Amino acid sequence: MKNKISNIKVCAFDAYGTCFDINSAAKLIKNKIGESWLDFSNTWRTTQLEYTWLRSLMKNHKDFWKVTIDSLDYAMKVHGIKSKYKKELLQLYKKLEVYPELKNVLEYLKEKKIKCCILSNGTPKLLKQLTKQAKIEHFFDSLISIEKVKIFKPHPKVYQQVTKKYSCKPQQVCFLSSNSWDVVGSRSYGFQSIWVNRSNKNFDNLDFKPIKTIQDLRQLKNLL
Ligand code: LAC
Repeated sequence: MKNKISNIKVCAFDAYGTCFDINSAAKLIKNKIGESWLDFSNTWRTTQLEYTWLRSLMKNHKDFWKVTIDSLDYAMKVHGIKSKYKKELLQLYKKLEVYPELKNVLEYLKEKKIKCCILSNGTPKLLKQLTKQAKIEHFFDSLISIEKVKIFKPHPKVYQQVTKKYSCKPQQVCFLSSNSWDVVGSRSYGFQSIWVNRSNKNFDNLDFKPIKTIQDLRQLKNLL
């Protein structure tokens, strides 16, 4: 089929926002947070990402869990969320809901004998917890965390971990991310990256474009 992506050795998935729903923590207690729950969740995520980029630029690394706590404190202040909900939100962030179509796609890739891994800013412990609670850990050949290189996405060293681990060329990696900037970073490294545009956003204007855009992971089955 002419639409198919060929010569793929490994399929690498971003975690937060691609496999796991980052808004599910705030959503689960939206009755306590109030109607600004989604704005609050967006501030939390945006700040979390900004802190990863700033820390990488400052060469002052803190792991993703600590960055998640720092950004939560900031977002709670911005949106006037009572501090008594902090513990609950953090507990929920450790068990974010998995997107419903993921398991079926991973089963398909397993049948096709395509190796799958996660490549994420998340710490090894967080990635283990998330995949375990979603009962999908057995589908992944490896959970690759940036903690090994101690610099966040989109530094090329992060993406290089996959080509090192699988002794392959960047163009043999199919990378899936819902984060436009992560698609840019990985395309800049040479991956065949697919943008999972779950909420009909505009793609970033940073020279690199995805090789394909899909609305959710189900469409990956037509491409591999
Ligand atoms: C990750 C974030 C960037 O999982 O979504 O790496």
